Amino acid sequence: MLFTRNDFGEDFKWGVSTAAYQIEGAHNADGKGPSIWDVFSQRKKKIFNNHNGNIACDYYHHYAEDLALMYNLNIPNHRFSISWSRILPNGIGAVNYKGIDFYNHVIDFCLELGIEPWITLYHWDLPQALQQKGGWTNRDVVNWFSYFVDCCIKNFGNRVKYWMVLNEPMVFTGAGYFLGVHAPGKKGLSNFLAASHHAALCQAEGGRIIKSLRSDCKVGTTFSYSHIEPFRHYDEKDVNAAVKVDALLNRMFIEPLLGLGYPTKDLKILERIERFIYPHDEKKLAFEMDFVGLQNYTRELVSHAPLMPFIRAKIIKASKRDVDRTVMDWEVYPPGIYEALKRINAYDGVKEIIVTENGAAFEDLFEDGILDDHKRVKFLQDYIAQVLLAKRDGIKVGGYFVWTFFDNFEWAEGYHPRFGLVHVDFATQRRTIKNSGRWYSVF
Ligand code: FCB
Repeated sequence: MLFTRNDFGEDFKWGVSTAAYQIEGAHNADGKGPSIWDVFSQRKKKIFNNHNGNIACDYYHHYAEDLALMYNLNIPNHRFSISWSRILPNGIGAVNYKGIDFYNHVIDFCLELGIEPWITLYHWDLPQALQQKGGWTNRDVVNWFSYFVDCCIKNFGNRVKYWMVLNEPMVFTGAGYFLGVHAPGKKGLSNFLAASHHAALCQAEGGRIIKSLRSDCKVGTTFSYSHIEPFRHYDEKDVNAAVKVDALLNRMFIEPLLGLGYPTKDLKILERIERFIYPHDEKKLAFEMDFVGLQNYTRELVSHAPLMPFIRAKIIKASKRDVDRTVMDWEVYPPGIYEALKRINAYDGVKEIIVTENGAAFEDLFEDGILDDHKRVKFLQDYIAQVLLAKRDGIKVGGYFVWTFFDNFEWAEGYHPRFGLVHVDFATQRRTIKNSGRWYSVF
């Protein structure tokens, strides 16, 4: 399908997304305190080739030229996150004004260029000082987080209209507190359920704080969401396994927010979260967001797996299925974003959906100084075509942000997967626009 930005209407928001730890570098500059990712990435064998985000894209020192490049690429919205320990080195208490200054400069320069800033409050980099007190497993995190949100809104809320409370709570609790493959590297069901309940409380409480301080702001929060299917549609066990994985990966955080509670009916093990729930929590979990951020990359096929602890289900990787896939081993499946939009749209109480992340990592090759990433161009075209289809079918989708502006630190995968519209040479910090970046700026 051929389309242009105009087909989506004038109000549709086009943008790019980034996150503080993945791009900023300057990990200990100007009074910044350490975050759980600073600490986790120093541990051996946790990250591909023992990479870390100490320097990353050095955006802390290059933000002006990077934003100018974004402007030149005709990108009108930039979603980025605030590093909590850059502005509150201990997580709570004393403010680091140099950190506040940095974000003031970024916001002001965005506005000067006509780029709308969209801020994610929490994109996974908890202050290490708070992790020492249990991090997300300690219920006090609701107070710590409230303090941080209050500080951000009071400093930046007069210029930033769009706010997102959390980035993908399922991923930072699942990978960080259950599997131990992301910071802070904790494992086990109990850690996971405690962290999850507290994150679910924070996602609603954060929304309430923003609105109480600035009723004119637009508030949302983001969810990872992959269309899920049984590996064998005819096998009842696979069908049941898919229902469970869907409850865990796709429904666990959005449903309490919408006042529906946790999806325990379809995933019995979740009943164990009850021991972390206090009287009146159910009400506190709910909040009416102005928009929901959908982050979609792939679809997952699920089979019954009797030996898999707790869930008795497993995801069949793309490489085992002989399908088109990215460097992350994620299947390329454009109709999945349509399905995800349709499903989220069907919930009562969802007012608008913004695709806050979508994109792909491929092996990018330079030839004669040109980076022809045709696979990424095709990926974006095919996924965006599905977004247009959804919009035409009456689904309330109001924006689309590419993950990501430039190649950056991809968590446990280090610098290996490159998702950017702009190539970064990490040895020289040189930026080169890829063909996908050119395409995104003119279509
Ligand atoms: C999402 C994260 C983002 C990035 C992409 C590839 O889960 O929110 O930071 O790593 O995946």
